[in-house]
Amino acid sequence: MNQAKQVPVTLIEGDGIGPEITAALVAVFESLGQPVGWRPASMGAKAFEQSGEALPSETVASLRYTGLAIKGPIQTPLAVGFRSPLVRLRQEFQLFVNLRPNRTLLTGSGRPPLDIVVVRENTEGLYAASEAYIAVGDDPRAVAVATAYNTRAGCERILRFAFEHAVKHGRNKVTVVHKANVLKILSGIFLETARDLYQTHYSGCFELEEMIVDACAMRLAMTPEHFDVIVTTNLFGDILSDLAAGVTGGLGMAPGANIGEGLALFEPVHGSAPDIAGHGVANPSALLLAGAMLLDHIGKASAAARLRAAIVATLNDDRVRTSDLGGTASCAEFTATVRCRLQDDSL
Ligand code: NAI
Repeated sequence: MNQAKQVPVTLIEGDGIGPEITAALVAVFESLGQPVGWRPASMGAKAFEQSGEALPSETVASLRYTGLAIKGPIQTPLAVGFRSPLVRLRQEFQLFVNLRPNRTLLTGSGRPPLDIVVVRENTEGLYAASEAYIAVGDDPRAVAVATAYNTRAGCERILRFAFEHAVKHGRNKVTVVHKANVLKILSGIFLETARDLYQTHYSGCFELEEMIVDACAMRLAMTPEHFDVIVTTNLFGDILSDLAAGVTGGLGMAPGANIGEGLALFEPVHGSAPDIAGHGVANPSALLLAGAMLLDHIGKASAAARLRAAIVATLNDDRVRTSDLGGTASCAEFTATVRCRLQDDSL
């Protein structure tokens, strides 16, 4: 493709299996005719080791310039060490949407095919809380506290995104997930805003369903086909979106996007998989599907559809699967088959 037509995209390979699956993404985009121009940047544990910064300022500058990025997983130390660079980015770029489509792509499971979109608020709730210890007697860490907040404006912007998404994609139902029976104020404001917004602007466009988070978790596990679009607050969304990924094919198949005013950042849902890093067996599908979401986002819907179709054909017609899906293919073999499928004009 003419370089002038290539959309500039910041490419962050990340840690663990990140470099292996990013190489797969770059190769597959080459087969798609190179619709984007990659601008490599670093972030995460490797960046921290090399430069002392988990989120180097050059990376932030690149993100500001391109407004578009795709990243591999980032290894974040537990409880101690550097703060999650992704959480920092969500705050700095106000990436208030976490969009997680979960679609069954593997045939032959015997379960009905699923297509569940989880829209999670990304910047408020408990994850925006400041945490502290309170000393009692001799124990300086006797009590751990965190103060969460949800704003009406924050609730409204994520609900509006979810409702618009439902309308644009012809969805029939949006389930608003909350815990307003216990957290009457913190979660109540979300539910109240959903009801108001629906009644004022979206009444009749789709069905609005309300569900308490624990009931939602059970129904997702037992009858996931009940769901269409789910919209919820930060912590509940974090948990439910992984649950939805689990029932539709596992973490190796789940893409996601973090979207704000000036930046859209696409990623696989899974982590850096340190247990298999460097073995060449990682499933690159989640990152490739994140690439398809990126293509949709920049208006290249036919390239996105071709990419998804090539992945589906590789998994089901060619029966080429990595070990997380019960197969024996390496990451490179899977990638080569997807590229081969992309040569197929019937896709
Ligand atoms: P993980 O998702 O890395 O791994 C969980 C299990 O799934 C492992 O057995 C792993 O081998 C397998 N797995 C994950 N992705 C796979 C793939 N593409 N192909 C085949 N198998 C795959 O979760 P874990 O072990 O809890 O976290 C490891 C690190 O990743 C941590 O430092 C964590 O903070 C980070 N992490 C980063 C995320 C991000 O950057 N968005 C998201 C989740 C975790």
